Amino acid sequence: MAADKSFYVTTPIFYVNDVPHIGHAYTEVAADVLARWHRQAGDDTWLLTGTDEHGQKILRTATANGATPQEWADRLVESAWKPLLDTITIANDDFIRTTEPRHEVNVQKFLTTLYDAGFIYTGEYEGAYCVGCEEYKQPSDLVVGTGEYEGQQVCAIHSKPVESLHEKNYFFRMSDFEQRLLDLYEARPDFVQPESARNEVIQFVKQGLADLSISRSTFDWGIKLPWDETHVVYVWFDALLNYITATGYGQDEANFARRWPATHIVGKDILRFHAVIWPAMLMAAGIDVPKQVYGHGWLLVGGEKMSKSKLTGIAPSDITDTFGSDAFRYYFMSAITFGQDGSFSWEDLSARYHAELANGFGNLASRALAMVGKYFDGAVPAPGDYAPADKAIIDVVAAAAVEADAAIETLAIHDAISSIWTIVDALNGYITEQEPWALAKDPANAPRLATVLYTVTEGLRALAVLLSPVMPLSTQKLWNALGVEASLGALAAQPVRNAGTWGQLVPGTALGTLEPLFPRIETAE
Ligand code: MSP
Repeated sequence: MAADKSFYVTTPIFYVNDVPHIGHAYTEVAADVLARWHRQAGDDTWLLTGTDEHGQKILRTATANGATPQEWADRLVESAWKPLLDTITIANDDFIRTTEPRHEVNVQKFLTTLYDAGFIYTGEYEGAYCVGCEEYKQPSDLVVGTGEYEGQQVCAIHSKPVESLHEKNYFFRMSDFEQRLLDLYEARPDFVQPESARNEVIQFVKQGLADLSISRSTFDWGIKLPWDETHVVYVWFDALLNYITATGYGQDEANFARRWPATHIVGKDILRFHAVIWPAMLMAAGIDVPKQVYGHGWLLVGGEKMSKSKLTGIAPSDITDTFGSDAFRYYFMSAITFGQDGSFSWEDLSARYHAELANGFGNLASRALAMVGKYFDGAVPAPGDYAPADKAIIDVVAAAAVEADAAIETLAIHDAISSIWTIVDALNGYITEQEPWALAKDPANAPRLATVLYTVTEGLRALAVLLSPVMPLSTQKLWNALGVEASLGALAAQPVRNAGTWGQLVPGTALGTLEPLFPRIETAE
């Protein structure tokens, strides 16, 4: 078992101009599942999330709402972004806000390092800017608008007109890093994943990198440049640095060395910032590049990226209030191949909830525990000799645990869940074939019945451990009902890489009661 391996995983930091929708929650859940898995494997794990609070977009939203940007950010963080973490059961280790001194001071340190090393110069920027993306746009990034923007050049992501800028700015010599970046992608093929994202980034860099404008002087909601206080740093330059300022860069070098480099989970719309600009910034400062940048797909509505600005956003609590946060987490992690786009529909969610969670997993657990209750007075029976059918279950459990861990290593969360689900399917098939209720009719079959029910309950033990990173709440209920806290310890402390080792459940353990894990929902929308 690889202990003490460092695993530092980040979510993007979220803009506080609006409240979260399920697209944001999707990124959070993915990072949290990975973090929980690694934590449970004994790796030295750290999950960072937070909020991106500077820039023109926040300033404009705050002003439109009659608030200062700081008041607005405080309000949104407390009323919407921190509560999201509870809504979807995120176990983050830290939450960084870019308006915190620990961030601002160290962003200035980083800027000074680059300035002193000659990577920053003054120039003039003339071109288009999308405030929605907070990004300078090239003509090839724009499309012709429709509806109220018919005929105008609009941002391909926000479908809104871009603004033309002409400002004196400071520039970062990003073009210096073109070849080093290409060498990095070549030398470390898993630096950008999935493959489609990697190819896109390589193509982009091969077309040639321009230097990057890193300051703005027409508004002041941002971190001031240390050598010229009439400029604030470009919001993306500020935001990307959160990943190092939150773990001690410039402040606590020992902690920074312990955590860095990170695995960044980001949506594909912000891949270039993370896979091109960010490593170039780090190279310039002489800091290691990230371990990996993983660009996941979008949740789509009507074939388009779900977004608040297009009024297609669904609040995460709309789903969790009815289905619960475990179902939310399970659904988005299993129904969509991580790395690809996926369409959300209430019908699909409800169908999978009932088929896979209520009937598949929940029912398996309640039937098994009820039978141990009925036939063995609620105490886990001792198994006798294993027959081939039992050995097949033991093999399925062992293989599923190994395959799931390998899938998590490559961030294929959906594959990890399907491997684990082979246990659910195998156990359901096993119960149907073994017919414990028929065995129970003849006392002569008691030893066989004991083996069958031990096999099922021990399979459930493995399922609780393997599924706990995905569904921490219902697996905790199952763990309590299995009565194993005293013999095996807390669920979150179960080494996940050891979950497939057979025979951990101690015969004689008294089972508790199991409340329904996934109650049927009659009127799902
Ligand atoms: N503030 C920047 C990130 C800075 S990171 C140094 C930002 N914020 S965001 O709030 O707009 O988006 C945060 C994340 O949510 C991004 O990874 C984005 O891809 C993700 N999503 C937003 N809408 C989404 C979907 N419809 N589907 C999946 N993810 C989506 O960008």
